[in-house]
Amino acid sequence: MKNVSVIGGGTMGNGIAHVFAMSGFEVTLVEAKQQFLDKALDAIEKNLDRMLSKQKISNDDKKATLQRIHSTLNTVEGVMKADLVVEAIPEQFDLKKKVFQEVDENAPKHTILASNTSSISITKLAAQTKRPDRFIGMHFFNPVPVMKLVEVINGLETSEETTQTVMGLAEKLGKVPVSADDSPGFVSNRVLMPMINEAIFCVYEGVAEPEDIDQVMKLGMAHPMGPLRLADFIGLDVCLDILNVLYDGFKDPKYRPCPLLVKMVDAGKLGDKTGEGFFKYD
Ligand code: CAA
Repeated sequence: MKNVSVIGGGTMGNGIAHVFAMSGFEVTLVEAKQQFLDKALDAIEKNLDRMLSKQKISNDDKKATLQRIHSTLNTVEGVMKADLVVEAIPEQFDLKKKVFQEVDENAPKHTILASNTSSISITKLAAQTKRPDRFIGMHFFNPVPVMKLVEVINGLETSEETTQTVMGLAEKLGKVPVSADDSPGFVSNRVLMPMINEAIFCVYEGVAEPEDIDQVMKLGMAHPMGPLRLADFIGLDVCLDILNVLYDGFKDPKYRPCPLLVKMVDAGKLGDKTGEGFFKYD
């Protein structure tokens, strides 16, 4: 494993490119538009600078990491030499299906295809390709350079060899891989999203102010961020998408998204990325 292609340079994609390049892999970052690529490369450099200022890496490490990151707007060219492709595009099945079909047709036979999806079925995504045995979920957490976990999700046909290779790769990145079977929300979001949704219901029902709800969880439960701050950080649209996957997947009303969450997404208040969610950001 030497060449890794990352499709999508958003928050997750640029973080994934960052950690692979920092661990010595040659990375090709694929984006749809030049402005998105520029933004992604800028974010990687800023996050490397942050690590440099904390003396976690040296200036030479930073330079070498940036030199290992190549970029392209052409998916076919971007995956031609890949040993591993990690997809990190928005959480829409039809979009992912199109990308995986193109990647499957153009990546070498041995290449493992991984999705960073936070809740879409790995089995269903794998079935869009001719290599479901070499298809897997590799779910990273934001901020990727900081969070230790990689949730590794096996689809119905994922081979043991693919699982072991990807678990080993996650360890090479300095992460801790934890394996989960393909079930709506996997483990992470099946546990996290109901908590976030319940915090939003507390706002909706006037139980407490957002600041106070977050204080309860930070000071009482030692969470680094309160659930509403975390929802803004993840993106309220992403939280809603994941809750809908849980609700549709289990057909259980306990996953019903809070109407306030739906309203905020409709209003375009998506959290950090739009400057306002439960809190305001500059
Ligand atoms: N790149 C590199 N380093 C970063 C970084 C980044 N993007 N963001 C933060 N850091 C580093 C900082 O430099 C700092 O380093 P030191 O410990 O050496 O000082 C450290 O991380 C802590 O950052 P800050 O001091 O700026 O701020 P903080 O102490 O408030 O921590 C946080 C910020 C790490 C984000 C912390 O609040 C936290 O852990 N929050 C919870 C995050 C979380 O739950 N993420 C998962 C979301 S769910 C998801 O991603 C998946 C999904 O499917 C929805």
